[in-house]
Amino acid sequence: MASKADEVLRRIERDARDRWCPIIGPRKGRILADLVRQNKPKRILEIGTLIGYSAITMGKELNGNSEIVTIEIDEREAEMARRNIEEAELKPEVKVIVGDALEVIPQLEGIFDMVFIDAAKDEYLEYLRLVEGKIREGAVVVADNVGPHVYMTRDYLDYVMDSDRYASRFIPVGRDGIAVSVRL
Ligand SMILES: C[S@@+](CC[C@H](N)C(=O)[O-])C[C@H]1O[C@@H](n2cnc3c(N)ncnc32)[C@H](O)[C@@H]1O
Repeated sequence: MASKADEVLRRIERDARDRWCPIIGPRKGRILADLVRQNKPKRILEIGTLIGYSAITMGKELNGNSEIVTIEIDEREAEMARRNIEEAELKPEVKVIVGDALEVIPQLEGIFDMVFIDAAKDEYLEYLRLVEGKIREGAVVVADNVGPHVYMTRDYLDYVMDSDRYASRFIPVGRDGIAVSVRL
């Protein structure tokens, strides 16, 4: 039987086909879910909540003693995300913070085991720089919409690929892809 979370995900996917709504979608969602299952993070930071699709995709893989903190700049999207997350009946606690990630990240307390970056494409490297002091060794940083030909996130991809702070790989999916970087 489909879980509540699955039902919410399928509904969002149907809605996203009818109106423009840049969710990560089921293909990339499966990669994200696999990464959560493999790494078993206790605490995830997501940058770019939209209406909660990717937060639910990750939260579905976690148990009750874990937490997702997710940042969304648009109040209306954040409100919709809260409703979708509540309806999904996830086990982990999910905190939706409304604000500009560039201002919110410096105020976050504690350490994260995983970061998922999916907000303003030209700010990815800034987000990473801000979060670098708040991730543990072995933490996984995942970034959507990167690729050798994706101009907006090119500086980010170059940085994680060339830096000796990360072991990174690029997973092509469709027209762009996902960068997976492990903090060394
Ligand atoms: C591609 S959507 C995120 C999709 C979502 N991760 C998913 O797959 O369901 C990008 C979101 O980032 C938000 N955003 C853009 N710039 C931001 C910023 N500086 N801080 C926080 N959120 C931001 C946008 O409002 C938008 O909702």
